[in-house]
Parts: sequence; C-alpha cells; structure tokens
Amino acid sequence: MDKLRITGGTELHGSLDISGAKNSALKLMAASLLTAHPVTLTNMPNLADTRFLSQLLSVLGVEVYWPNGTNECRLNAETLSSTIAPYDQVRKMRASFNVLGPMLARYGHATVSLPGGCAIGARPVDLHLKALSAMGADLLVEGGYVKAAAIHGLKSARIVFPFVSVGATEHAMLAATLAKGTTILENAAQEPEIADLATCLNKMGADVSGAGTSTVTINGVESLSGAQHAVMPDRIEAGTFAMAAAAAGGDVTLQGVPVASLLALNDALLEAGVEVDADIEASTLRIRRGQTPLRAVNINTQPYPGFPTDLQAQFMALMALAKGTSIIRETIFENRFMHAPELSRLGADIAVRGQEAVINGVSQLYGAEVMATDLRASVSLVIAGLAASGVTDVNRIYHLDRGFERLEEKLTACGANIVRLDGAEG
Ligand code: UD1
Repeated sequence: MDKLRITGGTELHGSLDISGAKNSALKLMAASLLTAHPVTLTNMPNLADTRFLSQLLSVLGVEVYWPNGTNECRLNAETLSSTIAPYDQVRKMRASFNVLGPMLARYGHATVSLPGGCAIGARPVDLHLKALSAMGADLLVEGGYVKAAAIHGLKSARIVFPFVSVGATEHAMLAATLAKGTTILENAAQEPEIADLATCLNKMGADVSGAGTSTVTINGVESLSGAQHAVMPDRIEAGTFAMAAAAAGGDVTLQGVPVASLLALNDALLEAGVEVDADIEASTLRIRRGQTPLRAVNINTQPYPGFPTDLQAQFMALMALAKGTSIIRETIFENRFMHAPELSRLGADIAVRGQEAVINGVSQLYGAEVMATDLRASVSLVIAGLAASGVTDVNRIYHLDRGFERLEEKLTACGANIVRLDGAEG
C-alpha cells in the first residue's frame, strides 16, 4: 500500500492551481443519466472517486469517454443497458446513490444498492427516499437495495427537509427536473455545488431556480438535452492548501479559487492571525504567515455558508499549533474526529468529548508514522506533517487519492518535501 513521506519544517512558497470540485463533479456525472444526449464535463478532477463513478455509469450502459490524465469527460447515456446499480459499485462511495433519482425520473424504475456504512458516521438516506416518495415513487427496501418505481412518471411535490442535507437536496433536484409540474424544495442545502448542478441542469434544458438558497423551485420538463459544463473549482481543496500554507508558514497564492465560497474559513484564518488576501475578481487567495504564532480559534461546523465539515480536520491540524486552547464542534457527523488520535501521534494535545474536540496548542509537532482514516482526515495529517519537524509517514493514502488531484505534485511545486513510496518500500 502506498504511503506519503513528508519531511516537514519547510515553508511553502509559490502558487498553485485549484482543480475541479469532486463534490460537484460526482453529481454532475449523475445528471448525465437524465438525458439521451451527451453531457461533456470540463475541468473534471481526475480522482479515484470520479473514476469510480464513471465505472458505475459504464456498468449502467453509459458511454464514457474520458482519456487517462485528461480533465474532460464525455458521458453519453443514450440508452441504458441496466437500471440496477449493484452493491459493489455503490458501497464504496455514497455519492453513487444519487444515480437512483435520475434513472427513476427518466425510465420510471431503478434499483440501487443502499450505500454502505461510512467511517465518519451513520449517514442514512431517509431524506433522499422521502423526497422521491413525495414525488410519487413506490419504494421497496429489500435485501440491501432500494427498488423504486414510478410507472406513470414522477410528479411534483412540495418537500420541506427537516434538516439540511446536501445529498438529498441534489437528489431531489435531479429527479424533479423530469417530474410533472412544479417541485419546491424548502430548507434546501445552499452549498455552491448545488448551484453548480443547477447551472448545468439548466444548460440541459431544465428549469431550476433558487439553487444556492434555502428554497429551490424546479419546473419539470418533458426531456433534457446534452450540454457542456465546466465543473466549479474545489473550495475544499483550496481551503486545504490555504491551511497547509498557514501551518507550514510561507507565502502561497492559490489560483482559480471560488473565493466567495470560503468566507467562513477566511474569517477563521484571519482570527488565527494568518494574512489572507482574497481577490474575488481574480479568483485568487494569497495566504501568508511568517514567524507570528497562530492564535487559537473556536469553530462549529455548519451547513453552508457556515464552516464546512470537510475542512474541520485540516483546521484541527492548524489549531494543534496555535497559542492557547481552541474548541472544535462537529455538528454534521457524529464520528468525524478520527484524525485526533493520529494528530496526537505527532505531538498534538487534543481531547475529544463527544461532538467536541479541545485542542491545547503546542509550539512544535514532531514527525511520526500515522494512518489515514478518511479523505479529509488524511489531508489533515499531511498538513500536520508539513509543519512538523522531522519525517512523517502517512499510511493508507488511498483515501487521499479519492479526493485530491496531484496532491504531492502541487505541494512539491511550493517547496514541500513530500514523496510517494510504493507499497514495496512501505
Ligand atoms: C455532507 C456535507 C457536505 C460534505 C459531504 C462529504 C453538510 C450539510 N453536508 O454531505 O458538505 O461535502 O458530507 O463530507 O455539511 N442525513 C440523514 N438522512 C439523509 C441524509 C443525510 O440523516 O437522508 C444526515 C447525515 O447523516 C448528516 C446530515 O444529515 O448528519 C447532513 O448530511 P448530508 O448533507 O446529506 O451529507 P452529504 O450529502 O454526504
């Protein structure tokens, strides 16, 4: 199994480009199932997760043209050979579940495996199912599969989500594009990736408005056409690199950043004493930190526009080095502190109490062998390793490859000392 070896203690200097957003790309790929015409996605991040979903789409009969190493992917779902998404293809990645709604909306039936348990929490799909059921789907959960049928097509509904769910909002939006009548989603998630999905759907001929606010209105249409769409840049990748620069010190400019979507992080970084120059027009974020010590900052993860759960682990790595005590509350997932004991191996002083982590900042972290447990947790270990003195080996980096494109290459270009060792050496 590959590992990353980081020799820490070097400042980061330079500039790096932000890739397309994984969390947007996956839902855009699912949208291709809604139409018999090709959907071309540019700025596609080359990641294990996006490649994995393209395999599932192939299994369903979608013609996927995505040459290795490129960032343009053409998906043609002219005819599907199957509307059954098998367990093996869905259990590994939760976003795969979102193929259910589009197939159901277009074909009137679909069978999709329930997504497996996930390391960061229970992550049920009840809200997804309630939304589809409100749109007239007959659902049967049997043998680990959701069997869905809507023989006469889906119909419109007014769906009020009891709490904010990104996945359920996107799923309902996808399905409603081909439902009869006007569907209204209330208490919808407002993440920028939802607005990106709506933009692409509208290019395909859908009629979606309000995406990115808490009320989304979808006027169903008969059929959708193809489209070309550039995946929005990855705010989580940008935020991660911002924190890497803040932790290691130096002067890094991130290019192609969806700056307006990172305000919660920018505020927290400024409060921590990091110099942040955000240029919305130029889509750049410049992060600087010299010898000034970091200050402790408390955060609560929240749905957008609050502090993203996907940046919580990285912020913890940063706070491990701050002067004072910070408290991080994770409100989205019940088990998303698995990085805490690994960060402690590097010398961090972190106590987890239920949904809260209390971090007493230390003046120095020291390299050690650590293990990645999930995608964002893994990259928090990379950040800590970059700031630590000595050598940090991060094991199980397949998690990282799920969501970060050319991570070592990008960091190395900014002066980081980070190499991938293949399994034989590790
Ligand atoms: C969530 C994050 C998203 C992040 C992604 C990957 C939020 C609001 N969502 O999206 O930003 O990119 O994880 O880390 O921050 N839930 C149910 N029933 C459902 C669906 C969800 O109880 O049917 C619960 C979840 O367990 C969770 C909360 O609702 O506690 C929010 O989940 P949701 O937004 O749906 O998760 P993702 O779409 O995976």
